[in-house]
Amino acid sequence: MAERSDIVWHDHTVSREDRERLLGQRGAVVWFTGLSGCGKSTIANELDRLLNQSGRATALLDGDNIRHGLCAPPAALVDEHGESFAQRFGLGFGEIDREENIRRIGSVAALMANAGLITLTAFVSPYRRDRTRVRRIVEQAGRPGDFIEVFVDTPLEVCEQRDPKGLYKKARAGEIKHFTGISDPYEPPESPEIRLDGGSGQSPLEMAEIVFGSVRSRTTPS
Ligand code: ADX
Repeated sequence: MAERSDIVWHDHTVSREDRERLLGQRGAVVWFTGLSGCGKSTIANELDRLLNQSGRATALLDGDNIRHGLCAPPAALVDEHGESFAQRFGLGFGEIDREENIRRIGSVAALMANAGLITLTAFVSPYRRDRTRVRRIVEQAGRPGDFIEVFVDTPLEVCEQRDPKGLYKKARAGEIKHFTGISDPYEPPESPEIRLDGGSGQSPLEMAEIVFGSVRSRTTPS
C-alpha cells in the first residue's frame, strides 16, 4: 500500500485564475442540504437555470443521480465487479456510507470549483460533521468563502405529506431502514450562509431567486 508521503501534490500549469478569467466568473460550491422531499433538488435546478441563462458556467451534482454512478449501491456494482468489490465500494445509507458519499461529492465539487465552475450540489447530507469537513476540503483546495451552504428548512410533516417518491410511506412501514427524519437523524446547520423557509409557501423559483442574488454577487470577478 502506498504511504501517504509517497503521494505528492503538484500544481497544474493552467491555474484556477486562468480558468476563471476565461469564464469571466469565480468558481464556488453551493451546497444544498435538507430532508428528502424538502425541495433542494427542485430549487437547485431552478438556480442552475437562472445562472445558466445569465451566462454563468455551472455544474449540478444531485443525490439521486450521483447514486446511479459515482456513489452507486452495492447491488449496482456486483455484476460488473463482483461481490467483494461491491461490498467495499458500494454505498448505502448507514452513517459511514453517508460519510463516504459526502466525502466523494465534496472532493468532486472542490475539483469543479477549482475548474472555475459554479457547482451546485443537492444531497440530504444529514450529519453536521460531514458538511463541516466538506467545507474545509473545498476551502482548503480553493479559497475561503468558496463554500455556500444553503439549508432548505422544510418541516418534516410537509416533506412527508409531499412524499414525491413514496419513500416516507415505505419508511413508516419499516420497508426502508435508516430513513432520514423517520429512523435516522438530520442535524440542521447552525450557521448556513442561506436559510430557505421551505414551509412558507414560496415557490421553488422564488427561493432559487433568493440564492441567485447571493451567488451572482459572490461569483462576480473583483
Ligand atoms: S445522503 O444522506 O448520503 O446525503 P443522498 O442525498 O445521497 O443522501 O440521497 C438521498 C436520496 O436517496 C433521497 O432523496 C431519497 O430519494 C433516497 N433515499 C433512499 N433511501 C434513503 C434513506 N434511507 N435516507 C434518505 N434518503 C434515502
